[in-house]
Amino acid sequence: MDSHDVQSDLKHVLYTREQIADRIKELAAEIDRDYAGRDVLLVGVLKGAVMVMADLSRALHSHVSMDWMAVSSYGSGTQSSGVVRILKDLETDLLGKHVLIVEDIIDSGLTLSWLRTNLESRGPASVEICALLRKPAASKVDIDVKYVGYDIPNEFVVGYGLDFAEKYRNLDFIGTLAPHVYE
Ligand code: XMP
Ligand code: MG
Repeated sequence: MDSHDVQSDLKHVLYTREQIADRIKELAAEIDRDYAGRDVLLVGVLKGAVMVMADLSRALHSHVSMDWMAVSSYGSGTQSSGVVRILKDLETDLLGKHVLIVEDIIDSGLTLSWLRTNLESRGPASVEICALLRKPAASKVDIDVKYVGYDIPNEFVVGYGLDFAEKYRNLDFIGTLAPHVYE
């Protein structure tokens, strides 16, 4: 087996490119309805949310601007450290803005609940969250995620922006890793 063959690192496909595209269109329609007539600032969380941001923003009909934050809560492995640090802050003043945080995945919810509190302290008109994926652990924390693409089982997933040690972000589908990759 060629160790550089990405396919051989995957156990199974959770969502295909087509399924993701359809779900993102549904989320965009909901967001367009909810924000009718208002400008939205999409805040993407680097790097995982890059693909969701690219596709969601293009599926929206509302006026949007985009900005990015980079925070660290995970190292290169699969375990949450519980510590959130801002690696790159926004360039936009949030005062009076309708902010929609765009995330790839919510697991423990630590990152997003910290981020939401942080952004709320900057005087926006509103802060909501859109996450493409949500793991079961997220139900244990008190965090209101208004837009969720899919509730998934508690498995480590990669692709469509999600990485394992910085690999697999470029896959156009979402899949689970074969055990030989991380064991
Ligand atoms: P918390 O636990 O704070 O974590 O909600 C959110 C961040 O953890 C990363 N994460 C993952 N990344 N596959 C990944 O590639 C996963 O299955 C996974 N689970 C959590 C991700 O960076 C997310 O923003
Ligand atoms: Mg992320």
